[in-house]
Amino acid sequence: MTTPRFVPLTTYREYPEAEMRLRAAEFYREIGRRRTVRMFAERPVTRDIIETCLRTAGTAPSGANLQPWHFVVVTDPEVKRRVREAAEKEEYEFYHHRAPPEWLEALAPLGTDEHKPYLETAPYLIAVFAKRYGITPGGGRFQHYYVTESVGLAAGFLVAALHYAGLVCLTHTPSPMGFLNDLLARPASEKPFLLLVTGYPAADAQVPDIGKKPLEEIATFV
Ligand SMILES: Cc1cc2nc3c(=O)[nH]c(=O)nc-3n(C[C@H](O)[C@H](O)[C@H](O)COP(=O)(O)O)c2cc1C
Repeated sequence: MTTPRFVPLTTYREYPEAEMRLRAAEFYREIGRRRTVRMFAERPVTRDIIETCLRTAGTAPSGANLQPWHFVVVTDPEVKRRVREAAEKEEYEFYHHRAPPEWLEALAPLGTDEHKPYLETAPYLIAVFAKRYGITPGGGRFQHYYVTESVGLAAGFLVAALHYAGLVCLTHTPSPMGFLNDLLARPASEKPFLLLVTGYPAADAQVPDIGKKPLEEIATFV
């Protein structure tokens, strides 16, 4: 059994209550401006900005700190073309055959369909993979805990970081996404979690006119 080691908590900052209130409100305002964008500019984004946002994602909490995620950053136009081709094929099946009417009704306000031009327009496709289990140096398997929760948190950190940096993204989940393992050469131990289409918005980008539920509806204090 590994013996735990502890270090002093030097990273925590306490703020006076008034400042805390301001900081909470500022963060809410900032993150509240984030929108999922489906119309991208072709404008490039410098790679180091994406790298820093990925480092932010890597700071997320995870079950037993096993950090069961891997990010594949796609910029190669030919790989993007293949991702688009495969995604549009699955999405055609989804919109025309697989999706139950109720799901299509829920998607209707977003105006989405099987056409995914942004998979080629946007400068970055960040494929987030969930490592379902770990592999030891000897090739054996070891258990990962709370994989979905952990990768969801890391993806949330990444979405927030990209927004904070001044970029936009689309959380894309072509269904099913198994083709990403083949196209991006990831092992069977990893499951595609979502694809974050990332870049600048098109100059004339529009977003669906939708809102968020009020606090009273999403929270209960007991
Ligand atoms: C897990 C998840 C999967 C999503 N999948 C898709 C998708 O495949 N295609 C798409 O256009 N939007 C997708 N979205 C984006 C949602 O439609 C969007 O977040 C929602 O409409 C709210 O809009 P907002 O992000 O601008 O607040 C997904 C979002 C999440 C969290």
